[in-house]
Amino acid sequence: MFKSFEWSYHTDRHQYYNDFSTRNDLYAKKQNNMCGIVGYVGRRDACPILIKGLHRLEYRGYDSAGVALVNPDGRLNVFKCKGKVSDLEHFLDGKDLGGNIGIAHTRWATHGVPNDANAHPHYSESENIALIHNGIIENYRVLKDALEQNGYTFRSSTDSEVLVNLIEYVRATSGCSLPEAVRQALRQVIGAYAIAVVEKGNHDRIVAARQSSPMVVGVGDGEFFLSSDAASIIEYTEDFVYVGDGEIAVIDRNAPLKIVTLDNHDAKIDIKKLQLSISQLEKGGYPHFMLKEIYEQPRTIVDCIRGRINPDTCEVKLSGVIDHRDRFVNARRIIFVACGTSWHASLIGEHLVESICRIPVEVEYASEFRYRNPIIREDDIVVAVSQSGETADTLAAVELARKAGAFVFGICNVVGSSIARATDSGAYIHVGPEIGVASTKAFTGQVTVMAMLALAVGRERGTVTEAYYNEVSAALLHLPETMEEVLKVAPQVADLAKIFTYAHNFIYLGRGYNYPTALEGALKLKEISYIHAEGYPAAEMKHGPIALIDAEMPTVAIATPDHTYEKTASNIEEIKARGGKIIAVIARGDEQVRRSADFVIEVPVIAECLMPIVVSVPLQLLAYYIAVYKGRNVDQPRNLAKSVTVE
Ligand code: F6R
Repeated sequence: MFKSFEWSYHTDRHQYYNDFSTRNDLYAKKQNNMCGIVGYVGRRDACPILIKGLHRLEYRGYDSAGVALVNPDGRLNVFKCKGKVSDLEHFLDGKDLGGNIGIAHTRWATHGVPNDANAHPHYSESENIALIHNGIIENYRVLKDALEQNGYTFRSSTDSEVLVNLIEYVRATSGCSLPEAVRQALRQVIGAYAIAVVEKGNHDRIVAARQSSPMVVGVGDGEFFLSSDAASIIEYTEDFVYVGDGEIAVIDRNAPLKIVTLDNHDAKIDIKKLQLSISQLEKGGYPHFMLKEIYEQPRTIVDCIRGRINPDTCEVKLSGVIDHRDRFVNARRIIFVACGTSWHASLIGEHLVESICRIPVEVEYASEFRYRNPIIREDDIVVAVSQSGETADTLAAVELARKAGAFVFGICNVVGSSIARATDSGAYIHVGPEIGVASTKAFTGQVTVMAMLALAVGRERGTVTEAYYNEVSAALLHLPETMEEVLKVAPQVADLAKIFTYAHNFIYLGRGYNYPTALEGALKLKEISYIHAEGYPAAEMKHGPIALIDAEMPTVAIATPDHTYEKTASNIEEIKARGGKIIAVIARGDEQVRRSADFVIEVPVIAECLMPIVVSVPLQLLAYYIAVYKGRNVDQPRNLAKSVTVE
């Protein structure tokens, strides 16, 4: 179970093939957590590094935050409060923040409401140990009862406080070192965790451990960084050690990094290089990450196709496919598993693969797939699609598929993420860190990769004509310019958003390749503006939803040229006839739908199968501007977190 893994990172953006091809048996059992943890030990002041790290991890949860620092004289101070990292910063004003070692946490509540007491770090009973925890201790009740019988009391309603007291109890009763107490305590724990622990009197050492929650140690010169996400500490080092499941890292400023397993065997220290630029993590002058990420799309598409399409021959190559050519050529079925936006991208993948490769495709919500005893055969390919690569349900679906003997291909963004490491092969979308909670550039990157995948496999299977192959790959090569073009609609979309800011409901319609685009447009709007929105295939309207249409129910209709254009135009007429307001996304120069629509957004036209990439841009912008006009927190909408690692 606790095998180490080998995995090659392809951070050289200029190499011809930049995909992943992995073979390992390591995949998380279960993930139940969505908080962010960060740690530092070295020569610098720890607190500013921790706070900056927390800001970068805030996408993982933002209902409370805290830090624990060990002063040079050995005092252990914990400061924490309900609210965002900025609230913590205010709270820290005037406090004793000295120390070159500390741990910090940003929380998305699972056990216990978001309040000061439930915020992390948690002190042990004696206040000699402080712990941060990302995860759920499933057997916390039993452990808590046992500790209570031994005189322990609890200040919070969290499972995490149980763990810190268990560590203290083990240390007190056996007289062992802190790393050994952590190891022995964790052997009694059932659940998921990434933890970091510091203790009073020791300003040199952090003990950290992981089971089914992401954790990485950044290795600097005489200093170490710890985080749930390498991107949050990338400005300090490019050298990272991914802590494996069931491993405990002893991070001591005066010693080389040491990692042991729960069985007390030394684990291999495998340093990986990761190159990301800081500018990718900052807003770069935009008011929100979401807007920045929308505007980044021409560049992210360049990064996504770089080295994969030969500009001279239009040939598409994905090494994750080439290395497993026979699996793809002989696949009897492809099953996409994903959640949310990645599921919408997968629906477009279904159209692409079925039409170009002539392989039957199913698209499953990962959360449903994993619990319904699906039929999975050895000649099936399961494609797991995930921006974060950490989504618990998708990871579990990967595990299920592998157990059933299927070949599992990943389409991920985050390099080194759990899903990337758990799959047999895959392709990164290479769109850079996506920080806005609402996914934008990851969606267009995923569809771009799916189009390349379909072309690469279609050619190997001989199911795509030369002319169509060349048309689509040429369109992919020109996609960055097309994305620049479509972004010019932003001011017009911003004006439209003003008109519709006070709508309570929206309907989004599309057909064919753009039905999933309609679903995705509706999801964007509801996530960040909290306006109720539904996406439908346009022809389904008359089977029920048309009853909702009146002057108060705006419809966003995607009516770009395709083989169902005339039918969509008729569906628009049906809505008009019932007094509905229509915002139509149309091709430049289209006069037919312009006449029936109340408002139009004109977009450039490319190959039909790539139109979702283009059309999604004005829909992202519409959701964005409506949310801004409503005064919503666009980058951190209520109740959401970027990385959904709870079931
Ligand atoms: C929507 C959104 C979510 C994610 C979903 C899957 O804007 O961000 O619906 O798409 O939680 O996340 P990943 O792709 O990381 O598996």
